[in-house]
Amino acid sequence: MKKIMLVFGTRPEAIKMAPLVKEFQKYPDQFQTLVCVTGQHREMLDQVLNIFSIVPDYDLNIMKQGQDLYDVTARVLTGMREVLTEARPDVVLVHGDTTTSTVAALAAFYQQIPVGHVEAGLRTHNIYSPWPEEMNRQLTGRIATWHFAPTALSRQNLLEENVEDKKITVTGNTVIDALYWVVKKIKEDLSLNRELEGALAAAGYDVTRLSGGKKLVLITGHRRENFGDGFVHMCTAIKDLTQKYPDVDFVYPMHLNPNVRKPIHEVFGENLANLGNMFFIEPLEYLSFVYLMEKSAIVLTDSGGIQEEAPGLGKPVLVMRDTTERPEALDAGTVKLVGTAYHRIFNEVSALLDDQQAYEKMSKAINPYGDGMACGRIIDKCLE
Ligand code: UD1
Ligand code: UDP
Repeated sequence: MKKIMLVFGTRPEAIKMAPLVKEFQKYPDQFQTLVCVTGQHREMLDQVLNIFSIVPDYDLNIMKQGQDLYDVTARVLTGMREVLTEARPDVVLVHGDTTTSTVAALAAFYQQIPVGHVEAGLRTHNIYSPWPEEMNRQLTGRIATWHFAPTALSRQNLLEENVEDKKITVTGNTVIDALYWVVKKIKEDLSLNRELEGALAAAGYDVTRLSGGKKLVLITGHRRENFGDGFVHMCTAIKDLTQKYPDVDFVYPMHLNPNVRKPIHEVFGENLANLGNMFFIEPLEYLSFVYLMEKSAIVLTDSGGIQEEAPGLGKPVLVMRDTTERPEALDAGTVKLVGTAYHRIFNEVSALLDDQQAYEKMSKAINPYGDGMACGRIIDKCLE
């Protein structure tokens, strides 16, 4: 029996690790599955734990309002020292590119516990974009013994860094496992649909507004390198778009980071209620978010995970970043990088709203990131 510890701490890691936790739990004779959350996020992490009914064995509960990278690094590192000393797992699995992942991998290395990296090998090769995520994943890649690469391209990135081929397994991205699970649940359960509509209305957006064919632009943003001017430009472009297109709804579930909210208030004012066709709402729990994404016409975001999910749902994604570590959907033509300059955002959203042909070209459903069976492949490798 091997003792496997999965460590995560933020919303996207939780969404992508939750199906893997569930899969490991199906093999109680082979694995003792331990879950350690750092609590780098609190409310946004707990939303995901609730949906997937995961009760962590360890919770470092490190989040502080307005934390910086030093806070997160120091608190995860010392927190993990105690947890690893007590639990002594045979393997630690971390995910992706957050500070939780890198520091948990480092903490495991300090006790000579081998690390498996889920979502390994994504690269922009620019350590300041996204920042600090590109460095986080490169560092985690150096520490890891096993690399679970979502795509052939991410495998190639690792080979170019001289990672041994036999240590790399191409698995697909576990986010697609999570997405398919949600989409199936939504399709099969009519009462859940009503529940989600109710949850969205309570959050501040009434989806019945879309029943007459009204279009929805779904927006999210949180990248650290966009704080300050980048966010102000994004918000100004969005504000002007809401005025140019009064018949289109713009819905922005806001990340809880205060640095994300400050520029929103600077551009839209203190009171974010009753802004006509602009709806600022609190972060949505995962089911409601996917439900809304399915109903949207365009997704405007700087998120990593949403770049992987939206193409699977056939939704064009305009990415408010200069680089992406996920070029597969870019190559397929369903994702476009638009940066954070005002005119580019304004013009690209306008083009998709005005030009039906351009819209249709970008809205074909593709799924370069997985087939919903990534977790099974990771388990197979662990069983080996
Ligand atoms: C983190 C990750 C980023 C990931 C993002 C996903 C790092 C350095 N950053 O960025 O890679 O893409 O999560 O969302 O690892 N907050 C709350 N409640 C929450 C979550 C956040 O109040 O549930 C607020 C707190 O004030 C917190 C702040 O947001 O201090 C920033 O959280 P932090 O995890 O440091 O950064 P993110 O921008 O969320
Ligand atoms: N998401 C969510 N509720 C929201 C916004 C996003 O559940 O209000 C989900 C989304 O479907 C995706 C993940 O959160 O799976 C992306 O998280 P985020 O953009 O915060 O982080 P990133 O992927 O950029 O690291």
